[in-house]
Amino acid sequence: MEQTFIMIKPDGVQRGLVGEIISRFEKKGFSLKGLKLINVDSAFAEKHYADLSAKPFFHGLVEYIISGPVVAMVWEGKNVVVTGRKIIGATNPSESAPGTIRGDLAIEIGRNVIHGSDSVESARKEIGLWFPDGTVPWKSSLHPWIYE
Ligand code: TYD
Repeated sequence: MEQTFIMIKPDGVQRGLVGEIISRFEKKGFSLKGLKLINVDSAFAEKHYADLSAKPFFHGLVEYIISGPVVAMVWEGKNVVVTGRKIIGATNPSESAPGTIRGDLAIEIGRNVIHGSDSVESARKEIGLWFPDGTVPWKSSLHPWIYE
């Protein structure tokens, strides 16, 4: 089954949005496979965002991610990478549709509350980076009620 890496950024944690965000993934029917509250340092944040290292906003992005604890999660389910991105909404909250996490809960691109892997390949890399010891093996009892 497909997995994705989801991170609630420091603003989401500080604003008390952890429950709200987890709830949206749970209600959809996805299964939580990994979860931790963690402070990362700049070397780790730079590694996570390595693909963006040439961008002018890179330094600010790293400072933002290390500014407080983040909630790192692995969610599992059919098409969870693409569907997770839809639940999250467009990168810039001013362009994210109402009903999406960023559309409902954020205003600025540099404080957009949440990260979600953009492909199955990045999900695999990001899960390996954030959960080097693996995740929790369990099967949700909801499974037969979610999948035909
Ligand atoms: P990106 O991977 O392009 O977006 P997404 O998070 O939707 O996959 O960019 C990573 C983060 O970088 C983005 O969530 C917010 C930040 N960012 C800026 O601060 N300014 C920008 O102009 C862009 C494109 C991104």
